[in-house]
Amino acid sequence: MHLLQNPIRSEELLAKTISITHRFYASSSEPLGHSELIKLAEQQGEHELIERFNHHSLGYADNGGSLDVREEIAQLYHDNISADNIVVFPGAQTGMTLTARALLHPGDHAIIVTPSYQSLEDSAKLAGCEVTRVALSPDQNWLLSIAAIEASIKSNTKYIALNDPHNPSGALLDAETKTALCSLAEKHQLLILSDEVYRMLEIEPNLRSPSMADISANALALSTMSKPWGAGGTGIGWIACQDLSLCEKLRRAQHIYAVCFSRAGEIQAMMVLRCSDQIINKNLNIIKTNLKLLEQYFAVNDDLFEWIRPRAGGTGFVKFKGPIDANRLASDLLVQGILIFPPSIFDCEDSLSQYFRIGFSRTTMPAALEAFAQYIDQQRTIWAQQ
Ligand SMILES: Cc1ncc(COP(=O)(O)O)c(C=O)c1O
Repeated sequence: MHLLQNPIRSEELLAKTISITHRFYASSSEPLGHSELIKLAEQQGEHELIERFNHHSLGYADNGGSLDVREEIAQLYHDNISADNIVVFPGAQTGMTLTARALLHPGDHAIIVTPSYQSLEDSAKLAGCEVTRVALSPDQNWLLSIAAIEASIKSNTKYIALNDPHNPSGALLDAETKTALCSLAEKHQLLILSDEVYRMLEIEPNLRSPSMADISANALALSTMSKPWGAGGTGIGWIACQDLSLCEKLRRAQHIYAVCFSRAGEIQAMMVLRCSDQIINKNLNIIKTNLKLLEQYFAVNDDLFEWIRPRAGGTGFVKFKGPIDANRLASDLLVQGILIFPPSIFDCEDSLSQYFRIGFSRTTMPAALEAFAQYIDQQRTIWAQQ
């Protein structure tokens, strides 16, 4: 596949959408302000880090991420992950694309769990892979079937890519399923690209299971500042992996695409991580408040909507039971200035043509839900006559 063959569908839609009043699709947490971050860092007594920010050099930062930011990131994992096991990328999107490019070869086969963030599949195709999709289904609560993965393994399979916590549904895998997937990968000598960008946003934090990078040396865990912490503007994403030879390959791939990152972004990322508890608590409170409103709305309007309550992250995949499909519903809503993500964004199979993604991690969601509800009420009588 050529780089320009499949532009990112969500970005294309956003670029074409001149005015959106209600961003009812947004998946990242409430954006953090720099002055808010400095205030939090001051409250935490992180004066030395603030000094480091004020006096940092604008020369090149270290390739693959400076040691101090990698040390800070490594603390999110268990003891088998240290700074050497972290490779920093300019965001998760670049991380997943370069990882596939570095570790896969034309003619390899990759298994991709869908629906998913588009790059998960396209990065394997860009690396020249043949791809098999393993589709999640609402009938199985959007949960992964290890048997379905096993049935898709071929002699040239090299890679399984999945996203957990899951965008768009908010489903969450337990430790047993992750361990079973890792054992399968080890048995067949496969790599797992585990896109964990919504990890840390479990609605019940006791449901958080270990990162795949903590479970197996065959796993590469991907994460980013943008989702749990609302700090995508730092431009910091990373891969965590126990296998140092894989990390070395990723560092080499990263050299080719980026000479270095913004040192300012690295220091901001360190501040964010040192204030992680406060930031994530604040973001989870927004998510929980919004989730209550959504549950109430979908319960009252269950003639038109059905969903499986998300268990992590700030996105949900909702079934529309009206007489038009969800692509049409999304384009009609867009005329009203309300953007939800239609199933076409996820290149969904026909069986999911009634599903659309909403985002509920922002303080603006209640207003978006109100505008959405008003439009639905207007249409209800028209739909009843169809
Ligand atoms: C599942 C998933 N993975 C990766 C990304 C990309 O993350 P980043 O913004 O750090 O590039 C996104 C962004 O929406 C996502 O939803």
